[in-house]
Order: sequence, then structure tokens, then C-alpha cells
Amino acid sequence: MKAMEKMYLYTRFERFWHWAQAALISVLALTGFELHGSFTLFGFERAHDIHEFCAWSWVVLWAFIVFWIITTGEWRQYVPTTRKVIEVARYYAIGIFRGEAHPVPKTTRAKHNPLQRLTYLSLAALLLPVQMGSGLLYMFFNDWPALGLTGVLSLDGLAFVHTALAFALVAFIVIHVYMTTTGHSVWAHITAMFTGWEEVEDADAVQEWERKTERF
Ligand code: HEM
Repeated sequence: MKAMEKMYLYTRFERFWHWAQAALISVLALTGFELHGSFTLFGFERAHDIHEFCAWSWVVLWAFIVFWIITTGEWRQYVPTTRKVIEVARYYAIGIFRGEAHPVPKTTRAKHNPLQRLTYLSLAALLLPVQMGSGLLYMFFNDWPALGLTGVLSLDGLAFVHTALAFALVAFIVIHVYMTTTGHSVWAHITAMFTGWEEVEDADAVQEWERKTERF
């Protein structure tokens, strides 16, 4: 086996937006489920205020994240591919428990494996924007008549979508946190998201799956 080498994978802003977004979504989930009536923690009024504050903070942060991903060219890391995706899924279902090697090691050029690309793209392009959109429509319910939305949207339907996606996001976080513990040690990936540095076998390798999808 080759000696491990260190590779700089996550820049300062990337690490900042990752943890800031994780914190905001966690607080939004906590206060959101209190507003939903699942439990009492802050009390309705405070839960409402915190939810609204974090919601606006997230919208602003999101604008910066999207701008950063587009201008740095990092969007390339999210270009979807189905190549090797079955192998990766099989690895997480079976191979990992047999101590097999990961079928798609990380490199600087491709830090997400094909399964991550599909997951993160669905989150970034679909789940998160729809959660923000439904939340904002919910927030501006009193302006629906002026916006011509009365009779077009139903508040019940909107609350259902917002709550269903909140469940989906919580499920994502649970799975995501489990996945982050599956590096060469339990803390390897989590430490990398704090320091930016990840230990890999060959940082400059161009994987065979990646070469075949080469477009940029
Ligand atoms: C920009 C983002 C968001 C906005 C603008 C937003 C806005 C809102 C608004 C206006 C409400 C109605 C209650 C109230 O007036 O205080 C609400 C409820 C709720 N929110 Fe959000 N929210 C956002 C993000 C999130 C996220 C990320 C989650 C969870 C991961 C979440 C979970 C919930 C839940 C579970 C409810 C209760 C729904 C119900 O039972 O009616 N929200 N949100």
C-alpha cells in the first residue's frame, strides 16, 4: 500500500459555508418542528422569531454560496454521473463491512464520488431551494392577495411540502453524519472539514471513471 499523503480539499470559505449552513438548518429544523407542534422548547413566539431570523440568514448565506460555487468553477464537482455509482452503493451496503477499498478514492479534481455528486446536486438544485421557496411563501402568506396567489396556492398544501422536506432534510443529516464517519478513521472526514486537509493515497490521480466522463 502506498504511503498516505495530505491533500488540501476544502478552502476556508467552503468550510465556513458548510458549518454555517449545517448550524442554520439544524436550528431551523429544531424551531420548525416546535412550530409544527412536535414538542415545546423555546415557546411558540421565540421559536417563530428564531426560525425567521435563521431563515433570512440562510437565504443571504445561500446567495454567497451559489455565487462562490459558480465563480470558482467548483460547480464542476457537482456534475452528475452514473459511472461507478452502483459500485459505490454496493461498497456502502456490503464492501465497507468486509474491509474492501473504496471503489472511487478522493482526488483534488474529484472530491465527491458519483453517489455524492447525485446526492449533493439534488440537495442544492432541488430540496434546499424548494424548502426556502415554500418557507418564504409561508412567511408572506398575508401578502398572497396582493401577489395574486390566493386561490392558486393552498396554505395546507404549502405547510405539508415544507414539513415533508424538513423530514427529508433531517433524514439527509442523519445519513450524512453516518457517512462522514466511514473514512480511514472515524474522525478523518470530519477533521478534514475543519482543517481543509484530507489524507489520501494519491492526490493527483485521475480516476478511470473520471477520465471517461472528462468534459472540462
Ligand atoms: C429560507 C428558509 C425558511 C423559511 C423562509 C421558513 C419559513 C417558515 C415559516 C414562515 C413557517 C410558519 C411558522 C411561522 O410563521 O413561524 C415555517 C414553519 C416550519 N418550518 Fe420553516 N422556513 C425555512 C426553512 C426551514 C428548514 C430548513 C426547516 C427544516 C429543516 C424548516 C422546518 C419547518 C417546519 C417543520 C415548520 C412547521 C410547518 C407546519 O407544521 O406548518 N423550515 N417555516
